[in-house]
Amino acid sequence: MQVIHTIAALRDALALHRQRGFVPTMGNLHDGHLALVKQARELVGPAGAVVASIFVNRLQFAPHEDFDTYPRTLERDCELLASAGCDIVFAPSEKELYPEPQGYKVVPPPELADILEGHFRPGFFTGVCTVVHKLFNLVQPTLAVFGKKDYQQLMVLRRMTAQMGLPIAIHGGETRRSEQGLALSSRNGYLSDAEKAEALRLSRTLKNLIARWQAGERDLAALELEAMQSLVDAGWAPDYVTLRRQHDLGAAVEGQPLVALAAARLGTTRLIDNLEVVS
Ligand code: PAJ
Repeated sequence: MQVIHTIAALRDALALHRQRGFVPTMGNLHDGHLALVKQARELVGPAGAVVASIFVNRLQFAPHEDFDTYPRTLERDCELLASAGCDIVFAPSEKELYPEPQGYKVVPPPELADILEGHFRPGFFTGVCTVVHKLFNLVQPTLAVFGKKDYQQLMVLRRMTAQMGLPIAIHGGETRRSEQGLALSSRNGYLSDAEKAEALRLSRTLKNLIARWQAGERDLAALELEAMQSLVDAGWAPDYVTLRRQHDLGAAVEGQPLVALAAARLGTTRLIDNLEVVS
């Protein structure tokens, strides 16, 4: 496995491979990231190259968010990536990727990007789309894999790729969880042991919301409010708990594929999770 820090060296390394599977990350890797790398390996075949990027993208963090404290663990990440079958790690410095302030940006449409995560994190998806579009241009992958853990991000990037005519197949990877059901996340490292146990409530709340919908309850506003209140009662500060349709995260419509999504702060840590409704 090659670990590459410059765009010039990346171009040289990539020239040898026609099929490229790409997994962009911000590092501090866990089994969720590694599952995407393994998926990319299977999709791209033994002759193709699997490329993972590690870059904590300042553009997608608001000034009050955790850009400075976001865990940076490059050495360990590279060991894990090597064991997962990665061929090339692209880990540029900020100066390499943004040599001048990134004035040109990829701004996603508000109906996708200003709801849910985008509503509570203004500018977040512009930061994500800008860096992923730039990374796509540098890596020129034939396919890329993103986790369903960040459901809206996957949807926004899928649409960006289609609308921009990028010749890249976008694949979604299933969310990896701890045995008890906590979605793996680099931000789980911020949680105390007591908070880690409490954090299980988030996926349980989603399961309960789905169960009540499937049992025939149709006052969605009331169901969502109750779900939010149950988190508040347990000491959380929820941003949203909601049932939406999978396709565009618009209002849930009976008979269409649905997904339940939530974001909430436990102490100072903001967690997100989602569950697709299996009918
Ligand atoms: P990061 O949070 O490091 O996540 C990198 C990829 O791993 C994303 O596609 C994310 O959805 C996926 N992922 C995270 N936790 C997962 C889990 N438990 N199971 C499965 N997949 C999981 O998402 C980002 O970085 C950034 O926004 C990025 C796309 C790299 C742009 O900067």
